[in-house]
Amino acid sequence: MPERDVAPAPAALTEAGAADELARLADEIAAHDRRYFQDDAPSVSDADYDALKQRNAAIEALYPHLVRDNSPSLRVGAARAKTFSPVRHGVAMLSLDNAFSDADALEFDARVRRFLRLGETAVAYTAEPKIDGLSASLRYEEGVFVQGATRGDGQVGEDVTDNLGTLKEIPRRLAGRGWPRLIEVRGEVYLGHDDFAALNAAAAAAGQRTYANPRNAAAGSLRQIDAAVTAARPLRFFAYAWGAASEPFAESQWQALEAFKAWGFPVTPQAARVEGVEGLLGAYAALERLRPKLAFDIDGVVYKVDRLDWQGRLGFVSRSPRWAVARKFPAQQARTVLRGIDIQVGRTGAVTPVARLAPVTVGGVVVENATLHNADEIARKDVRIGDTVILQRAGDVIPQIVAVVLEDRPAHSVPFAFPIHCPCPLHTPLARETTASGAETVVRRCTGELACPFQRIEHLKHFVSRKAFDIEGLGDKQLRAFQQEGWIAEPADIFRLARDPERLAKLREREGHGETSVANLIAAIEARRTIPLERFIHGLGIRHVGEATALTMARSYGDAPAFLDAMDRVAARDPEAMADLDALDQVGGAVIDACAAFFGEAHNRRMVEALVAELTIEDAARARSDSAVAGKTVVFTGALERMTRDEAKAQAEALGAKVSSSVSKKTDIVVAGPGAGSKLKAAAELGLKVVSEDEWLAMVTA
Ligand code: IVH
Repeated sequence: MPERDVAPAPAALTEAGAADELARLADEIAAHDRRYFQDDAPSVSDADYDALKQRNAAIEALYPHLVRDNSPSLRVGAARAKTFSPVRHGVAMLSLDNAFSDADALEFDARVRRFLRLGETAVAYTAEPKIDGLSASLRYEEGVFVQGATRGDGQVGEDVTDNLGTLKEIPRRLAGRGWPRLIEVRGEVYLGHDDFAALNAAAAAAGQRTYANPRNAAAGSLRQIDAAVTAARPLRFFAYAWGAASEPFAESQWQALEAFKAWGFPVTPQAARVEGVEGLLGAYAALERLRPKLAFDIDGVVYKVDRLDWQGRLGFVSRSPRWAVARKFPAQQARTVLRGIDIQVGRTGAVTPVARLAPVTVGGVVVENATLHNADEIARKDVRIGDTVILQRAGDVIPQIVAVVLEDRPAHSVPFAFPIHCPCPLHTPLARETTASGAETVVRRCTGELACPFQRIEHLKHFVSRKAFDIEGLGDKQLRAFQQEGWIAEPADIFRLARDPERLAKLREREGHGETSVANLIAAIEARRTIPLERFIHGLGIRHVGEATALTMARSYGDAPAFLDAMDRVAARDPEAMADLDALDQVGGAVIDACAAFFGEAHNRRMVEALVAELTIEDAARARSDSAVAGKTVVFTGALERMTRDEAKAQAEALGAKVSSSVSKKTDIVVAGPGAGSKLKAAAELGLKVVSEDEWLAMVTA
């Protein structure tokens, strides 16, 4: 809560003061609700929050005619029904990459062997059912269950210790021996089919709302304020992973599962230990056959490299491990009627046709919209308004229309005429995108660039979004209003608005924008005037430069001037600058082209300049800046014998080094293995430091 003077008691307020105070409280409580529910990051204690609500209620009791339409006391049952304290996980709870086909499984195995340089050696994996529930982390100290948490955003979850404590399958005390003094056991909380059916039947009989699927029911049952309600729901648990552990307790995933069993946890009996690609494919086929007979929902198979030392070497990319993948079962389908097709304009001008559908339930979720991808796709499938279509939904993927049921096509239907103009007020012509070689692609773009208000809005929305500048209180609605007013056209305008007394005065006069909400908005904007380099880069909205790539670039360039200088050189197609960019993890041709196009565009460059002028951009925290190689530019050349190139590169970058593919005077260290040729020669000519693979390993493990 912001620091404030001691608030006057409700009875001491004048009527006007009470009205102001109610407006302020409505805004403040709504902001806390947003932080709590949407961001999973509450900024006040439950007690402070409750005090705000009580104050609001007390003032309303004195002045009933001042109760606002948006009063927190009118939000029945919604917001803040569930108050759980945040828990920071000892080790982040990550997610898994998805695989959808045999080919994807093959690629996973090939990647593992490539990374570990195993040649044709078959790798041992576990293949475990992917249980469709919600994950939980259980903390045991000296073998005693001390805390249970939901996943939350992966870093911070909710404390649901009391609720988890009611699950019969979660031991209060670990059985057996050999458990670490501290261990976070992780697994899935779920509801069996029969229990789900019984729960819904009872709810229906009592006239209460029913749950759409067992997963929702499990989540709803766990997140109850009253643990007695959770206790009455037959929630179950399977252990399959762990977070923090004070001592190693297994050498393989399989041994870990055995250990969990010995400690008293249920482990999926269908889990198997398999070898090589055949093993992966066989396990999937077996589980797919078994699925209809299982008493609980599964939505795929999780493959994990069995050996933990190999898991350690494989490490993580962004938020998922390289050593595991979730192979999903095929999507579920349903039929419905296509009522209309809308055209949406994205941040980069690409237009996407969106199907508006008669609502239908697919795999437990009501679907009303689906993507139609692009004009070619509509033409290829000959999708027409009024058609009955087959809709498909897989996991969390956006629903898609897979086919038209031609027998049900209404008479006199006509093929869909894809618009040739942007639906924005400018009606700019849409152009087909071409590749570098001039070939046409399926993408159609509005050619209006940032002159197109639709693109601008998407651009601004991206800019203020959580993973970019994260400006609270500036959402779609406000941005549209400010855009219409002519106040905000580009990111820099947001910061200009915050110190434009005239506009702010106008804003205060507006309905729904009280003194406090304007003050909050200014505070939210000002809080982001100082911004980490990676957020700045991500916020620019360069195509293909997502959160992870922005972070890699920030760590590599270090500060804003170096980043901008490099980008200008990339835009001028300077070979050295392009090679440096190319050398970064997760960066390839698409990113280089996108950066060149973005910074090569004079309008964008001016927009960036204007933005930079408003900001203080913080230098990037180099990863592990305490390591001996942090900040150094490293080139690997010749064969490596103890690890693969990918592994060496990933390790170096994790330690804050920048890996480049070409030797230049900027190179700090050249790691040369047998067979090193021209790069080694160049290094010698430039007088660079050359080390062997062993010397390098000594440096990075020091
Ligand atoms: S392992 C580092 N094993 O799937 C990742 N996850 O998309 C550790 N899940 O959040 C997760 N069954 O909720 C793992 N046998 C299993 C699983 C499983 C279900 C869920 C889990 C996780 C999500 C990943």
